[in-house]
Amino acid sequence: MIISTRKDTSFQRRRGIFQRENYKYRSKHRNHRNSRHFLFYFSFCTHVSTLTFGIQHCKSRDIVHTMIDVDFITSDLSKVKVFTSVSLFCGIVYFVAKLNKTINSILVFCWACFVKPLIQKKTVKTGVKNQQQNLELFYKNQAHIYDTTRTVLLKGRKECLRLAISHLQKKKDLVWIDIGGGTGSNIEFMNQISSISKNFKAVYLVDLSPSLCEVARNRFIAHEWTNVHVLVADACDFTIDYKSADLITFSYSLSMIPTFNAAIDNAVSKLDKQGIIATVDFGIQSNDTSIGRVNTLGGLVNRNIPWILRNFWRIWFEADKVFLDSSRRNYLEYKFGTIKSVNQYNKTLGKIPYYIWVGCDKARSSQILTRLNCLATESPYLAPYTSPNAQITESMPVSKGHEAAIANLQKNLPFPSLYYQREVWRVYYDEMNHLYEQFKNQYIYAFTWEDPREDHNILNFTSDDTVLAITSAGDNILSYATLPNPPKRIHAVDLNPCQNHLLELKLASFRALKQDQIWQMFGDGRIDNFTDLLIDKLGPHMSSNAFQYWMDKGTNAFTGKGLYDTGSSRWAIRLGKLIFKVCGISKHVTALCKASRIEEQKQIWNEYIKPVLFNRIVGSFLVGNPIFLWKALGVPANQAKMMGPSVIKYVIDTLEPIIERSLISEDNYFYYLCLMGHYSRTNCPDYLTTKGYKRLTGQKSVTGDIPIDNIRLHTDLLNDVFARLSNKSITIAIIMDHMDWFDPNGVDVINEITAIKQCLVKGGRVMLRSAATYPWYIKTFESLGFKCEAAAIRKSGKSIDRVNMYASTWVCTKLESDDENSGDEVVVGDVDIAKLDAGRRRMSSLKI
Ligand SMILES: C[S@@+](CC[C@H](N)C(=O)[O-])C[C@H]1O[C@@H](n2cnc3c(N)ncnc32)[C@H](O)[C@@H]1O
Repeated sequence: MIISTRKDTSFQRRRGIFQRENYKYRSKHRNHRNSRHFLFYFSFCTHVSTLTFGIQHCKSRDIVHTMIDVDFITSDLSKVKVFTSVSLFCGIVYFVAKLNKTINSILVFCWACFVKPLIQKKTVKTGVKNQQQNLELFYKNQAHIYDTTRTVLLKGRKECLRLAISHLQKKKDLVWIDIGGGTGSNIEFMNQISSISKNFKAVYLVDLSPSLCEVARNRFIAHEWTNVHVLVADACDFTIDYKSADLITFSYSLSMIPTFNAAIDNAVSKLDKQGIIATVDFGIQSNDTSIGRVNTLGGLVNRNIPWILRNFWRIWFEADKVFLDSSRRNYLEYKFGTIKSVNQYNKTLGKIPYYIWVGCDKARSSQILTRLNCLATESPYLAPYTSPNAQITESMPVSKGHEAAIANLQKNLPFPSLYYQREVWRVYYDEMNHLYEQFKNQYIYAFTWEDPREDHNILNFTSDDTVLAITSAGDNILSYATLPNPPKRIHAVDLNPCQNHLLELKLASFRALKQDQIWQMFGDGRIDNFTDLLIDKLGPHMSSNAFQYWMDKGTNAFTGKGLYDTGSSRWAIRLGKLIFKVCGISKHVTALCKASRIEEQKQIWNEYIKPVLFNRIVGSFLVGNPIFLWKALGVPANQAKMMGPSVIKYVIDTLEPIIERSLISEDNYFYYLCLMGHYSRTNCPDYLTTKGYKRLTGQKSVTGDIPIDNIRLHTDLLNDVFARLSNKSITIAIIMDHMDWFDPNGVDVINEITAIKQCLVKGGRVMLRSAATYPWYIKTFESLGFKCEAAAIRKSGKSIDRVNMYASTWVCTKLESDDENSGDEVVVGDVDIAKLDAGRRRMSSLKI
């Protein structure tokens, strides 16, 4: 193909003129041009350029006619077409932008954020002198479209304000400083949450950009808010008319402040001792930037931003002088105590990482250190609010939380996040404990699979009891707390943090929700506005770790198939449903759950369900399969061995008597839930009944305590919990079937029984269930000074409780005669402690 060089030179020259003109125009009008000028000029220049180009080429073609072949004409024509199309496109964009406000805003936004910073880098060689000029260069032309374009980009702003308000104890006469407040849209958002004119004594919007402040000022005038003040000032050194503020917020501003340390220090000096500081911003934390201070962060869910996103977004935003580096959030988390922290992605714009963080005065919790230690350890030196400096003696047990808090104090770090929470339910746990990894950040049981009614029949709880029990889904813990005379303290223990997140959610619901909302969540297992409830109502009553967990998983858990289709145990339920469906008996299963007479129930069972469940295929592939038993039912190999020679027979002995015992529709919420996926109002755990709701939320007559306040959640191995509890402080330990899991040839069982014994009072009882009628470890209990009695032994055809899952229930009572020897021996010296794997430490061993 022959190419006309003259044509190209001419074209380039013309294009060059266009570019120069364009640049000259932009330089000349840098200070007063606006976006509309730019769009118009861009479109105009493109038109002129294209037209000139077309004419030029017509002429060229005449002159060099002889040199041109057909190829050239075709290619030249196609270039004309391209430029005409571009020109037309630009024209259309220009007119649409003129007519449509949103498109105009988007174009200006794209120009200001994506194109202009790149051009500026080349043209403004000398650089801008100070930050204010910088900000003006960026914001001046887009101040009028700022709000429209930031809705999609700046996610989480409303949630951040809602979370901050829900955590503020004070609700009236508030002083609020919004640092880097921009156009004041946050103050308008806040007005939807809490009335600006009624609840705020003064609101200060501090911003360094005069153009954005101008928009804010007009906005506030329109609202007639006389208590809102706009300060054109630097975040690092502004002043207000009050000594301190109840609320300070940084909404997407910290990442724009070059001197962020000074801005945060200024916020520290202005925040009231009881105040709240809240931030929402882009940020790119990684696991590596969290090392050494994990317990101060309030949870690690989604905190580690993948390498590619970390680097891409950091570089991308740097062009706009927005800095996503982790140092800003780190400094916040160093200067304040972390109350809540959430890590999210803005998925609309391609997974931009952002976080919401709520904090408070770092020193706020020092006075409750002793109290929290006592609550976690059952220390007799319980120091209530009134005597924070109660004497700490040599024999006072020390919780892991106390050790962590003291260690942080020595390094001038904030206390662990759990120390800044409103509720004291959750006991500190070390998030980095590798034992938690096995649970893969999910719970196994969404409901508890043991019958608390039978527990009470056997143990007869009184308000003098201090109970320790395994959490599971927390249903039985709440059932004990619902009793007319509930135990004075209940320690719920689970190694899986998510089981305790589930119980924490239930506790927070009893603190903050109405009965009907609680029913929707835990009776139906579904609720529409879960995240709203979490932010506005439940959040203040939860640890940051549990809050993060439910922010991440809650919406899915409480929609669709609901809560009872979550947790690893859902696989067993799903499989059961699949078998019923494939075998065409689903309608009979529903009929079984509706049956109103035992005879009817028996007939449905014998005719339709039993033949399907107990056929050979289901038997050998599922019930007799160790992988299924472990993965779906949580039955480990050691326990499966204790079931006897035939697992199928074990299952038949479990299920058959259930059909004869009581109506599934009325008095067996365990099986009803598995088959129906939800509870019914008359067939549910006690804590979901009206009586239960009243008891859990109302005042207890004798002591004046609310029963849920006496619950403590430990996320640790049972042995580690026993080791940190005071000697002789527990009257009842309910350890479920957990000892079945131990190896009969190992020492675990000896360690655990010794540790339990140490915490039990004289005559204290251990209640356990087992897959064996006579579990092998009963002998170990007896040899270590317990008297063991079978409270129930299952026989073929007879049930021992409504679940009837276990072959026996035992009560092992600590013998008084053995008590004096055992209690003191075990706690003397570190050598014995190490041997017993109990890890008990004394106050004197701590370097304070
Ligand atoms: C992305 S905007 C966020 C505005 C507003 N908070 C919002 O959420 O819509 C960041 C704001 O921080 C302000 N800013 C940046 N550096 C500042 C400083 N040193 N002092 C005060 N404000 C500053 C900017 O002017 C801008 O208004």
